[in-house]
Amino acid sequence: MRIAMIGAGYVGLVSGACFAEFGVDVTVMDVDPDRIAGLRAGRMPIYEPGLDTLVAENVKNGRLSFTTDLAEAVRGADAVFLAVGTPTRRGDGHADLTYVYAAAEQVAKAAEGPLVLVTKSTVPVGTGREVQAIVRRVRPDAGISVASNPEFLREGSAIGDFMRPDRVVIGVDDARAEAVLKRLYRPLYLIETPVLSVSIESAELIKYAANAFLATKITFINEIADLCEKVGADVHDVARGMGLDGRIGRKFLHPGPGYGGSCFPKDTLALARTAQDAGSPVRLVETTIAVNEARKARMAERILAALGPDPKGKRVAVLGVTFKPETDDMRDAPSLVILPRLVAAGVSVVAFDPQPAHARQALPAAVGFAESALGAAEGADALVVLTEWNEFRALPPNRLKAAMKGDVILDLRNVWDPAAMRAAGFTYSSIGRP
Ligand code: NAI
Repeated sequence: MRIAMIGAGYVGLVSGACFAEFGVDVTVMDVDPDRIAGLRAGRMPIYEPGLDTLVAENVKNGRLSFTTDLAEAVRGADAVFLAVGTPTRRGDGHADLTYVYAAAEQVAKAAEGPLVLVTKSTVPVGTGREVQAIVRRVRPDAGISVASNPEFLREGSAIGDFMRPDRVVIGVDDARAEAVLKRLYRPLYLIETPVLSVSIESAELIKYAANAFLATKITFINEIADLCEKVGADVHDVARGMGLDGRIGRKFLHPGPGYGGSCFPKDTLALARTAQDAGSPVRLVETTIAVNEARKARMAERILAALGPDPKGKRVAVLGVTFKPETDDMRDAPSLVILPRLVAAGVSVVAFDPQPAHARQALPAAVGFAESALGAAEGADALVVLTEWNEFRALPPNRLKAAMKGDVILDLRNVWDPAAMRAAGFTYSSIGRP
């Protein structure tokens, strides 16, 4: 089989490389010439564990190639996947579908024969129908089927997630599209992955409902963590006791400074807007969004309060600025709300992140960057953990203590043991633990 993947971002690149690994011929196309030139030279535009090796192996065996030429990518393809961005539209919170519609039109124009046009990008209910309308208008003759195949991979473990998903969702309304997608995902039948074949509308909504549910689950445990702090309970014990109930589940019950990233913030917002437009508001999701936004701002206040009555001129070390570990993605990271507030209050901020490729341009210029966690801690009055990279867990407390001027630690990801940190002489606080 042959496919084209339109968009060489986190989703397009990972799923393209994984399909190639499944034995499919894949051409990944992107409008960004630098991105494609870099990929052809073996340089990854993003950090994702294992991706460079997977790409190199499949380029070498001839199943994976990169181009800026859409017609070349589409030629002879059984299916063309749209994996372009769907960021928040400025002004109204809806998903911006400009890239999806533009790409759909370009693919339709380039199609030489029947193919299945599959939307992998996260798109609101109704987008598939609009894509169908575009295709019918531009190329009524081409025999293009439209399908939806939302992606559930997580950055940081994207390859494993794609290769061993909990489920594959395909939204189709014709047998040919269903057959092509099922053939592409056939390797997953060997590991008995459920493949849900549903309507295009249901597939589109499954993705938003799942993300909004997960964002709500995180927000729920964050509020329970706040309550734990007030009443002297330990949120980890509470989360474990809750999570062992099979109806609740153990995952996504880890408290933190508020969710961020390239999906939850924009997808919750887009779902809330879609639901309002449909006259069926999802108030729980609207509340989740508001609670999470307020939380990030409150985290900045908490850090400032820990610096004493006059935070101006104090130095704060920040460990981790990406939205989660094992990625360099800065989109909607909590650091983007928290760090500017510290800078505005006159605090001198020095950050360290193991993958700082996009961090410098995303954060205010006043934020300094160190080459190591201990380097950031040097001379700091306080230290804040914002992203739970594993290497932070292994930092010897006595070396941190020796590097810092002050003794305040705000561990907003609960990476350290409170007793050990207090024994090392820190004034240590974390989330939801006594
Ligand atoms: P991204 O921003 O990393 O990549 C998008 C790529 O599309 C860019 O390289 C851009 O140059 C390219 N592009 C834009 N218009 C194009 C066009 N007309 N033709 C060819 N290329 C074009 O985006 P990312 O993170 O990969 O997300 C893509 C979609 O997948 C979004 O809808 C997102 O919500 C969804 N998604 C993302 C996940 C993630 O973890 N990043 C997980 C699951 C879904």
